[in-house]
Amino acid sequence: MSHPELIGQANAVMPRDPDNPTVRRLHTEIATQDGITYEQFMEVCLYGRSSRGDAGGATEELGYYSSGRAGIGAGADFATHADTTSAYGGTIAHYAHDVWQQIGSPDRLWVVEQGAGNGAQAAGFLQEVDWQVAEGAPADRRSFGAFRQAARHLILEYGGGMIAHQQQRLQGNAVNWVHGSAIDLPLMPKGKDTPPVLFTSTELPDTFPVARVRKRVSGFRIALEQVYVTMTDRGAFYEETRPIEAEDLAAEARTADSMAAMADGEERVFNMRLQRWSGAMGSVLRRTTGGVLTIDYGHHTLDMNLPPRIYHHSVTAPYGSAEGQAHMYRLQYELPGEVDITTSVPFRAHDAIMRRHGLRPHHITMEADFLRYYGFETRLHRVVAAEVAAPNPVLEAMYAAQRQEGDNRSYEAFVRDHMSSFMHTHHVDRTRSFMAYAYRKTS
Ligand SMILES: C[S@@+](CC[C@H](N)C(=O)[O-])C[C@H]1O[C@@H](n2cnc3c(N)ncnc32)[C@H](O)[C@@H]1O
Repeated sequence: MSHPELIGQANAVMPRDPDNPTVRRLHTEIATQDGITYEQFMEVCLYGRSSRGDAGGATEELGYYSSGRAGIGAGADFATHADTTSAYGGTIAHYAHDVWQQIGSPDRLWVVEQGAGNGAQAAGFLQEVDWQVAEGAPADRRSFGAFRQAARHLILEYGGGMIAHQQQRLQGNAVNWVHGSAIDLPLMPKGKDTPPVLFTSTELPDTFPVARVRKRVSGFRIALEQVYVTMTDRGAFYEETRPIEAEDLAAEARTADSMAAMADGEERVFNMRLQRWSGAMGSVLRRTTGGVLTIDYGHHTLDMNLPPRIYHHSVTAPYGSAEGQAHMYRLQYELPGEVDITTSVPFRAHDAIMRRHGLRPHHITMEADFLRYYGFETRLHRVVAAEVAAPNPVLEAMYAAQRQEGDNRSYEAFVRDHMSSFMHTHHVDRTRSFMAYAYRKTS
């Protein structure tokens, strides 16, 4: 798929609201730095922060996640599997319990969820552990009882404004929060006494800001340039390419196999933060036992040639069409901080990085297979009854619309199908799949 063309001043896009705090921040950054990289632009749009200029040095959280306005859920900007049913978080609980047993049932295991959105995964996780302790088979009651004693939950959240949503969802549960980035793993103990830890994340690395590199061919001269964002005198944003400044990105781009085959003007996306994130987890797991479980969507490639995608509830153009792509792509400049910007994860590259940091794969599989293996469908069957008993207004509205279109399923069948749909759809297209990557360190 080609990249929608916003290169050059002629393609400048005016932000709809020049007083939007994210727009103001971008204008300041672009003016003081004479243009910013696309990676910096994405950082401000998703996780921006600005000083309020008051005596106390307080900061204002802006950007899509940091402001807390991210719309996750049916009918909002996008839905995640964790948010679709509590059976998802419940399945992660069974995985964590399995890891805990495999590392010798230690009396402490930190379950560190990185990037928790609305807190749905943790809620499903804790609910399932409680259910097993109260109503599971006798052996599970005992085992989950000891696991509950050992497990400590920590949410590491970079989007400051999301923490309030999570705290509301998880009220009354023993969960700890750290406001910081998974890429730096703040506050992790440094010494040999690091307790066992399991890092979990769902749809996290697809939100890391990425660099975009274009190939320029002129006669025998080949140059690799990075996409920058700059603005007109009136504050309209446009893209341009400039020489790559960061040495690590330049080296990565120079050695990427696919760059050699690219034509003039073609572009690749580089998620350089995958390296730092994997390195941070690898260095913790060098000192202790535990593992990493990360579930996300992407492609089985070493790098990406797809443009970042934009999600917003107002988008009605078909995502696959060129017209839809172009419309969505402009939105990030029209509505900075109001829309989600996401990229796909290059799975093969990520796996190589994890191995380089000493993390050995335990499962690398389609998400649906992973969930099925850990009993998702049994759990779904149980929770659907409870979720139907306490109807969800969003699902009810969707059901009413389906009925009008002649769908005769019962509400329960509709809810079950809706919740399990991701168990099936992502088997179809192996080129864009949801994958579960689990790495373990047992001794
Ligand atoms: C796409 S949402 C997914 C939320 C949730 N895991 C789910 O599946 O519903 C991404 C989440 O990761 C958070 N996030 C993004 N970058 C992060 C980072 N470097 N460290 C920690 N959290 C991050 C965002 O603020 C948001 O809460």
